[in-house]
Amino acid sequence: MDGSAPVAKMPKTAKERGKVAPAKLAHVVLRTPPERAQMILDWYKVVLEGEAMYEAGFGGFITYDDEHHRIAVLGFPGIKEHIDGYAGLHHVAFTYESLGDLVHTYDRLKGEGILPEFTINHGPTTSMYYFDPDKNQVELQVDNVPEERFAEYFDNGEFSANPIGVKFDPEELFARYKAGESEEDLLQRPDGPPPDLSEFPAN
Ligand SMILES: [Fe+2]
Repeated sequence: MDGSAPVAKMPKTAKERGKVAPAKLAHVVLRTPPERAQMILDWYKVVLEGEAMYEAGFGGFITYDDEHHRIAVLGFPGIKEHIDGYAGLHHVAFTYESLGDLVHTYDRLKGEGILPEFTINHGPTTSMYYFDPDKNQVELQVDNVPEERFAEYFDNGEFSANPIGVKFDPEELFARYKAGESEEDLLQRPDGPPPDLSEFPAN
């Protein structure tokens, strides 16, 4: 968010503007102390339903889609522990195809003892924020609005009125999904005030 006025439509891609730009976002690489590399790899394998393309004592590469590795973990001697509040990367987000896939993943991870730290319907997305064992923040999300209606959504005033979102109870969302409520209804942002920014988990 930069406080600028909402866009009336999706901007053209760099390619459509005649520019040479990356074809895709390739991967994220995490560093960790060598003795934790396997633990971090395993966490991402569980969370993303990934498999190792390659793993060894010093780290490895995880794939879960058509990219040979989306996440890599490298163990470096001498890495210092995470400290909250430093400038830099805040989180990495992964989008699911449907709300059903997101709440299924929520429930699956709960069974593994992995729970979100913060859950919020931003308006454009329904988002669950997790911490990996090194306290890197990972967002699992689903788009609330189809791609072709995003511009219309940003013009309808809901986002401008509250660009942060409204918190929700993931257990309740999962229960309502299981009870058969439609994804379209469940993806609507509930009424309510935005949380205070201090409520966002610090990392
Ligand atoms: Fe995000």
